[in-house]
Amino acid sequence: MRLRSLLYVPAHVERFVAKAHERGADAVILDLEDAVPAAEKATARAALTKAVPDVGRSGARVFVRVNATELCIMDAEAAITAGADGLMLPKVESPGDLDRLPKGSKKVIAIIESASGLLAAQQIAAHPRVIALCLGGEDFATDTGATPSAETLRLPKLLTHYAAKAHGKLSLGLLRSVAQFDDTEGLTEAAAEAARFGFDGASCIHPKVVPVLNAAFVPDEASIAHARRVIAAATEAEAQGKGAFLLDGEFIDAPIVSRARSVLDRAGIVPSHE
Ligand code: COA
Ligand code: MG
Repeated sequence: MRLRSLLYVPAHVERFVAKAHERGADAVILDLEDAVPAAEKATARAALTKAVPDVGRSGARVFVRVNATELCIMDAEAAITAGADGLMLPKVESPGDLDRLPKGSKKVIAIIESASGLLAAQQIAAHPRVIALCLGGEDFATDTGATPSAETLRLPKLLTHYAAKAHGKLSLGLLRSVAQFDDTEGLTEAAAEAARFGFDGASCIHPKVVPVLNAAFVPDEASIAHARRVIAAATEAEAQGKGAFLLDGEFIDAPIVSRARSVLDRAGIVPSHE
């Protein structure tokens, strides 16, 4: 599943829901949790019946972020009944939190938001329902007594990232937060940095950020051109019985060829030589 950009939309805010499908996000996350005040929780949940199909009508995947409290099961059931593609489960502490979800909860994005969740990230990532992992910086900082910043969140974000990668799951997030949605340059740099580390996409809270994420989390033209040349040269080298070779002075062997395949795969290109 391609999830370069995931746009958070508080489920009770009709004005946001109404045009969410026009924003170009790979996924919309209808939020029932932190962006919804206690008094609006029931309204937000009831709104899913209409909001889920509405925000998905241009092809975006639809996830619902459920509450981690006693509302969790009710929220999850409402999301599944409304036809959501998956759930986003906040404050995941252990694989048991995933087992407790209702039967139809097949695709879950797990958010790690505590020290204990971080230390269980591998087991959480291994859970069959989990398709992606991310670290919730604000809640994580609150749980650990840290001041949220690029410095304090970098290690937990990277540990979460490697837990996801160790189990072949998607890894979502940026390594630094950008305060202004108008700061396209800062956002572009942050997204490019995350992409260099192998993150697959990131969530955002404002539609202005969506195109920046969509552009950052696909290989650029130069990488695609390079990958094509590597695959072509590798196919030729293999025919000559060579596993390692030089391409314009660059040493190429198996991991570089695999990476080139993955670049073409992420760009939606099937290598023509195979
Ligand atoms: N989803 C969909 N549409 C959104 C949106 C969102 N998250 N945030 C803003 N918009 C829309 C507005 O409705 C407006 O649309 P229009 O001009 O076509 O009518 C346009 O984008 C510009 O909005 P803007 O005036 O810049 O923002 P705002 O002041 O209305 O809202 C926030 C700013 C931060 C309050 C709002 O973006 C928001 O609530 N985001 C989600 C927060 C959230 O989900 N948090 C939990 C996850 S951490
Ligand atoms: Mg939170």
